[in-house]
Amino acid sequence: MGGVNPYIAQTMSTKPSRPFTVTFRDEETGKETVFRVDPEKIPYADHGQEGSLLDIATGAGVEVNHSCGGVCACSTCHVYVAKGLASCPAATDDEEDMLDQAPAVTGESRLSCQCVPNGAEDLLVIVPKWNRNAVSERHH
Ligand code: FES
Repeated sequence: MGGVNPYIAQTMSTKPSRPFTVTFRDEETGKETVFRVDPEKIPYADHGQEGSLLDIATGAGVEVNHSCGGVCACSTCHVYVAKGLASCPAATDDEEDMLDQAPAVTGESRLSCQCVPNGAEDLLVIVPKWNRNAVSERHH
């Protein structure tokens, strides 16, 4: 599932005009994936808003859970934007409402499917340890 939820307000994001870097850090393992975002290649996938952190993570091959397909109807795509948060527009009321249902929310918390950086800064995004697809990682 992917696309845009027509019943929620869209973020007032500005598309990046130049390349920038997003570093995804796995909270549990500390593993980092450094990804250079090319504005010409956005969207990378069909999950979340175009150019969102979820979209970028998909392009980078970083797994971030997104149970609702990126339409702001769950809170499973919760990440922490540890650096570069100022380059992301403020969360909408809809995003805030969904974030209220996420565990361990901090001032750096965002729903990755709704958070669209404008490219003015490089970002460090922490992927919480619970926020991965446990089914695909579990050994049977
Ligand atoms: S994937 Fe459901 S709110 Fe982001």
